[in-house]
Amino acid sequence: MTRAYDPGIPPAPVVIDHDADPVHADAPVPDPLALAAEWLPAPGEDRMLMTVSTIGLDGVPDARTTMLSDFDGARFFFHTDAHSRKVAEIAANPAVALTLLWPGFTRQLVVQGTAQPSPREESDEAYRSRSFYLQQLAWQNTAEFARLPQVDRRAGWEEFLLAHGGPERPAFDPPERWAGFAVTPHRLVFWTSHPSAASRRLAYTRSGEEWETIALPG
Ligand SMILES: Cc1cc2nc3c(=O)[nH]c(=O)nc-3n(C[C@H](O)[C@H](O)[C@H](O)COP(=O)(O)O)c2cc1C
Repeated sequence: MTRAYDPGIPPAPVVIDHDADPVHADAPVPDPLALAAEWLPAPGEDRMLMTVSTIGLDGVPDARTTMLSDFDGARFFFHTDAHSRKVAEIAANPAVALTLLWPGFTRQLVVQGTAQPSPREESDEAYRSRSFYLQQLAWQNTAEFARLPQVDRRAGWEEFLLAHGGPERPAFDPPERWAGFAVTPHRLVFWTSHPSAASRRLAYTRSGEEWETIALPG
């Protein structure tokens, strides 16, 4: 069950052994995707939140928080409403940046890459793994619902719960508007703190089949 941004479920704290973090080691890990896999939650663990930055249709940067639904070892996935602003922006320009911040400010990962729609099969599966609350939210996150007065929004929410919730909360399909995106990175910047040493940053830039690595200040 995907557990992030569900007001009923607080996130679990993350404990990090700074000295064991490969970003502090003298020899950088050659493959940033392997490093990302080591840093990110394993399948079945709580999902992380991230800032998804896009280029606005007016050329002004745009940003918002989403859940990182999955990382498959090569691509970063998020899911959203096909009618949303970010989807229109990605359709016009698929260049995106993702910023992930770990609890306690222990780590930051910034990813620059290209977003592509993910297959329906993948997004359906991601929907099924979300909590009931998030599945309902996906259905009720419409422009029409947002314009209703609060009393009607509450009533609409209750009505949906009565129709679909019940004690067993059986699975139901995502709305047509449910859309998944997979981001293929060309640059990843890993930042990690240390309680008794300087923070450290490693930047990886894709160069053909290889990755170029550089240690950066800040
Ligand atoms: C903690 C948190 C988690 C969120 N997770 C998602 C998400 O996974 N997908 C999503 O579409 N919106 C999510 N949102 C809402 C987005 O931040 C944003 O308001 C919405 O997607 C509309 O963005 P847009 O108009 O820029 O496209 C989340 C918001 C917060 C605060």
